[in-house]
Amino acid sequence: MKCHVLLIRCARTRCCIIFLIFGFIFLIGRLYQYRRYQLMSAIFRASDYELMQSLNPNLSNSKHFIPGMFLKNVLPRNESYCRFRFGLPDMLEINESDVDFTPELGEDSDYRVIYNVLGSNYNVSDKKNNVTFCTHATPEFFYYVVEVLQRWEGPVSIATFVPSTDASLILCLAERLCSCLPDMARVSLHFIFPLSHPPRLIACPSTLSDQAGCGMPKPLANKSLQTFRNSEAMTYPVNVARNVARMQSQTTFTLVADVELFPSKNLVGNFLKMVDKLKQKSENGLNDFASRIVYVLPVFEVGANEAVPSVKSKLLEMYSQNQAFYFHRWVCSHCQRFPGLQRWLLKKSSSMDESIKPFIVVRREFPFHRWEPVFIGTNSEPFYSEMLTWEGQQDKMTQMHEMCLMKYHFVILDGAFLVHAPGVKRKADVLRDSWRNDQQKKNSALYERIMKSINKKLKENSRCRIH
Ligand SMILES: *[C@@H]1O[C@H](CO)[C@@H](O)[C@H](O)[C@H]1NC(C)=O
Ligand SMILES: *[C@@H]1O[C@H](CO)[C@@H](O)[C@H](O)[C@H]1NC(C)=O
Ligand SMILES: *[C@@H]1O[C@H](CO)[C@@H](O)[C@H](O)[C@H]1NC(C)=O
Ligand SMILES: *[C@@H]1O[C@H](CO)[C@@H](O)[C@H](O)[C@H]1NC(C)=O
Ligand SMILES: *[C@@H]1O[C@H](CO)[C@@H](O)[C@H](O)[C@H]1NC(C)=O
Ligand SMILES: *[C@@H]1O[C@H](CO)[C@@H](O)[C@H](O)[C@H]1NC(C)=O
Repeated sequence: MKCHVLLIRCARTRCCIIFLIFGFIFLIGRLYQYRRYQLMSAIFRASDYELMQSLNPNLSNSKHFIPGMFLKNVLPRNESYCRFRFGLPDMLEINESDVDFTPELGEDSDYRVIYNVLGSNYNVSDKKNNVTFCTHATPEFFYYVVEVLQRWEGPVSIATFVPSTDASLILCLAERLCSCLPDMARVSLHFIFPLSHPPRLIACPSTLSDQAGCGMPKPLANKSLQTFRNSEAMTYPVNVARNVARMQSQTTFTLVADVELFPSKNLVGNFLKMVDKLKQKSENGLNDFASRIVYVLPVFEVGANEAVPSVKSKLLEMYSQNQAFYFHRWVCSHCQRFPGLQRWLLKKSSSMDESIKPFIVVRREFPFHRWEPVFIGTNSEPFYSEMLTWEGQQDKMTQMHEMCLMKYHFVILDGAFLVHAPGVKRKADVLRDSWRNDQQKKNSALYERIMKSINKKLKENSRCRIH
């Protein structure tokens, strides 16, 4: 009898233990699911650098990248390499005819533009046969332009968002760089501002002007710069900026890219050589591309403490050692995973560091309908939707959808690529999260509306999906 009871007890405790073990496994499973859910929602909300770091400790932000370190020991000269207009940098003398509408929405936009506040100041024999790096920035990110200039041989067109006194911040930084770096002569600079807050000039804050050298001013390096945009919690009209920068390029080809994306070596020269070759081939009838072609640059990122690779052999070496990843590998795996990525990574040839070649030609169709390629094109590609804000994300998807319906060919390039600045926080550090969610909802609603109007305008294609 006693034995029986003991047996039952024993069985019970065993049951208990087994039950506990199962319970534990279940809990772990739930935890895993939750984490996955978080990941997925992050994927659909796109980039969150912090999340990426939590997944890969090697990308830790402990030593964040500071642009312009190579200027640290350079002193400003007593002359400017730039050509300011409108009485700048001391005053801003403009009249109505100097203020333009935005490229896409025009008069209906809440924003206005002043083009070529800084005109590019160079003489080349053939201005057309070149590629302009078209980019955009707020004062916090303006210094990245020097890193782009270090790596890009062509002209640079940069649209800056300058509500009210933020115009002064940009001008302070630009004026300093213009007496530090001869390459600034290749830069054309544009102002974008809300109608309600036109640019306003005040004295440079002493924290920006006190520093003697050409390196990045302290408040930018330690991310303590106060901007008007931040204090007013303004959204960033990224697509107005992209359109404005592109519109002002004087060259046949344009690359619209974020200012923290650094190009590989000799990209402009080698790209133009490749285009020449393709042209010759097409004249010989070997190549009958339609006119709707853009050239895609694969995008990668590297750990916070790594150097930016400038040639493919170095990139591949870093990739094999887990020091480089394709862009947003950890948070938005579909955004930059281009068709043929694996083959691209396997393709090694002796000339891959010295020349650019077409790798494959693809359409941006299902299952790559969420791919957001960065590409070299011309000024005839569709505009970016100016109603979408940066904070709301999905900001490039409408243009991509339009290009899908227009049956664009995407030529993925071999021997050329972009690398994101090491360990830089991205969209995450803009503003409060709840506020950002509101923006995402706003963009989502707009996104549906814009997609519908695009679908109405163009011929249907079931392979161009919008979700
Ligand atoms: C810099 O230029 C200003 C006028 O353009 C001149 O007065 C000043 O002496 C110059 N300083 C140096 C160090 O050359
Ligand atoms: C506005 O400025 C432009 C040059 O910047 C000048 O040609 C034009 O006459 C000015 N218009 C008015 C109304 O002052
Ligand atoms: C560019 O050429 C013009 C004349 O065509 C000349 O006045 C100007 O000084 C040149 N600019 C530079 C930076 O060489
Ligand atoms: C492109 O423009 C830059 C100046 O912005 C010039 O230095 C370079 O030589 C040009 N490249 C070609 C191929 O013309
Ligand atoms: C950043 O630098 C500024 C200027 O030197 C300084 O006043 C400020 O205290 C620093 N902020 C942080 C968070 O280090
Ligand atoms: C982190 O870096 C170390 C050494 O550089 C490497 O062995 C390891 O695989 C990396 N971890 C990840 C997750 O990439």
